[in-house]
Amino acid sequence: KDGIDTDDTANGIRVFDPAYLNTAAISSKITFIDGDKGFLMHRGYPIEQLAEKSDFLETAYLLIYGELPSKSQSEIWKFEVMHHTEIADDLAKVIGSMRYDSHPMSANPALQGRNLYIHDKSIMNKNIIRIIGKSATVAAASMRVRMNRPFIAPRSDMGFAENMLYMMDATSDSENYKPDARLAKALETLFILHADHEMNCSTAAMTHVGSSLVDPYSAVSAAAAALYGPLHGGANEAVIRMIEKIGKVENIPTFISAVKAKKELLFGFGHRVYRNTDPRSKIIREVAETVFTACGHEPLIEVATALKDAALADPWFVEKKLYPNVDYWSGLIYRSLGFPLDFFPVLFAVPRVAGWLAHWKQAIEASNPKIWRPRQVYVGPQVRDYVPIGDRE
Ligand code: ACO
Repeated sequence: KDGIDTDDTANGIRVFDPAYLNTAAISSKITFIDGDKGFLMHRGYPIEQLAEKSDFLETAYLLIYGELPSKSQSEIWKFEVMHHTEIADDLAKVIGSMRYDSHPMSANPALQGRNLYIHDKSIMNKNIIRIIGKSATVAAASMRVRMNRPFIAPRSDMGFAENMLYMMDATSDSENYKPDARLAKALETLFILHADHEMNCSTAAMTHVGSSLVDPYSAVSAAAAALYGPLHGGANEAVIRMIEKIGKVENIPTFISAVKAKKELLFGFGHRVYRNTDPRSKIIREVAETVFTACGHEPLIEVATALKDAALADPWFVEKKLYPNVDYWSGLIYRSLGFPLDFFPVLFAVPRVAGWLAHWKQAIEASNPKIWRPRQVYVGPQVRDYVPIGDRE
């Protein structure tokens, strides 16, 4: 039925589905997850193959435009993105004026689109390139603020993750500085693994906000806010705080009992879609070894491994089908790389920008896009008369 239906009794079926446990709000060609098998693919390509053979910008192109780029498409795309990594001086000043202890997730590329308020289709691709390119620079700049060090200009001749490491690294004031190739490759793989994950909380936020036809910078800002909560992209930060609190392997049984008594959450475990091991967490575990080899032993690894083993062997977790998700190991890698805890969600957000934009573009280009507007089931008071304040008790 077309048009607005104001008759609540004549809507046909209305699904009451709190937290969207069973609701598909879109049909999508971008990402597929088989939660029971622990399988993930983007545009038909299994995540394992992309993680091994692709790079972040190529995966971003695949997500956004639907196919792997040809050689020339790839060259143009990478050139364009890497030549849109510069941020305007006034934006740099805004980030530079942030307090040293403000959460780095409060700086995001939305600031760059300050003059836009409505989505303009004719510059969609330009905006996509700008947002991906600038997200890494904004992130790196927010890190430099915390270090009380000057910003480092991006290097368009470097790979995406390599350039981000270059801009962030405290010793990179030197022109000749080059990040460790093993670490740049590890971060590139992490970026591929985080690039998209279908209708997760932040992507749903992006698509929802974008459905009002606001500009994509503002929609990215909404998505970034959604990502940074501890039940979503902030979980990598929460995992480390949890492991630090547990402290020793001997304390694990007490912690597990507290989780089972619902007094604690086992961060980095569980997923709305996966009822099996998150395939990304297997790949991440291998990346972790490379990083630990390059950066030295990670002291929290023993507790993390023993905690994971204890949970996987416990019938309570088995019955609830709770397995490690992508965030269980990623935090340990970021810690080993020397990033401060509250920067971890930023390292998730930068690559996820690609997925946000892919879903936003798909929704905007749909044949008859509609504003997202869920309904509700009203359970408040029935109609009643206003009582003047003098007549109230
Ligand atoms: N620790 C303890 N109990 C858990 C956990 C956990 N990590 N995850 C789920 N449960 C329990 C729930 O309490 C619930 O128990 P019940 O059946 O007795 O009520 C049951 O398992 C089912 O879990 P739900 O919370 O209903 O699952 P939901 O799909 O709503 O939530 C979520 C998924 C938010 C990821 C949840 O598993 C969680 O809170 N995990 C910890 C945070 C985390 O790691 N988030 C990162 C997710 S991955 C990502 O965003 C990149």
